[in-house]
Amino acid sequence: MANIVLKKIGHTAVLTLNKKSTMNALCAEFLAEINEALDSVEADEDIYTLIITGSGKSFVAGADIDEMVDMTPQQILEWSGLGSGLNLRLEKMPIPVIAAINGYALGGGLELALACDIRIASENARMGLPEVKLGVICGAGGTQRLPDIVGESIAKEMIFTGRSVNAEEALKIGLISKVFPQDKLLEEALNLALSIEKNGQLAVRAAKKAVNFGIGKAQASDIEMSTSENLPSIEDRCLFERETFAPLFDTEDQKIGMGGFLRKEKDIKFKNK
Ligand code: HXC
Repeated sequence: MANIVLKKIGHTAVLTLNKKSTMNALCAEFLAEINEALDSVEADEDIYTLIITGSGKSFVAGADIDEMVDMTPQQILEWSGLGSGLNLRLEKMPIPVIAAINGYALGGGLELALACDIRIASENARMGLPEVKLGVICGAGGTQRLPDIVGESIAKEMIFTGRSVNAEEALKIGLISKVFPQDKLLEEALNLALSIEKNGQLAVRAAKKAVNFGIGKAQASDIEMSTSENLPSIEDRCLFERETFAPLFDTEDQKIGMGGFLRKEKDIKFKNK
């Protein structure tokens, strides 16, 4: 089986990482393969959500230590741009990205999951940023995204100790939103994708953009403010939301959704136009 398996199920793309020899550790070649798979996802307008998962007992066991071990600071600075770039790309994809964490998500693996919009996990999953145990720190966004997601104290405790958490604890601290038995994880990820896909996709994408803006993940093209040194104020954030909300009133979906509600229609079908 190939290192990466990309399947389309209805409107969902399922990208399965399958480099079993290294438990899906991220090396430059593997990162390029993942980016290639994302190229095909992005080229297909019929895909509404993306699920990323792993095969076997690992989601991603981190960046590839074999590949990093002898690098100079200059080399690792460039190399870490590959992982960081992938994570920024996932975060900025217009469609929702779901990480279905099926096992170990450590180091660069958890960093990848942190860049996804929604994280769910199997009961046997373990998540952590163990880099300090290797004498280094995260290089693909972990120190930046984990505190945003679980708060400063828990994030620093996890990062400074390198301790990993199981699915139950991850759920408690808000690192993931749901836990399932391992053999049900993909099915439940697909159910989650389906419950997103039945909604108006222009609205779902606008919602991703609006939430991301508020939590500091705006694209430069979204608004000039994102290049400012200051975080946008609550006024700026609410204005951005209104400016993302208003154009939806020029869409067929808004007529279908609101008109359908008023006509008491049971099964509203959006056109995503
Ligand atoms: C390279 C790895 C690897 C990794 C596992 N392997 N993780 N190879 N880089 N990150 C390889 C092992 O060397 C081994 O190869 C095979 O996968 C199976 O691993 P085992 O250790 O034998 O399996 P197990 O005992 O089940 O333990 C699983 C594990 C452990 C708990 C996930 O492998 C582990 O601790 N891995 C490292 C986790 C880690 O520290 N990640 C952070 C990396 S630093 P062989 O050939 O012996 O069979 C990082 C920085 C990010 O991510 C920077 C981003 C730019």
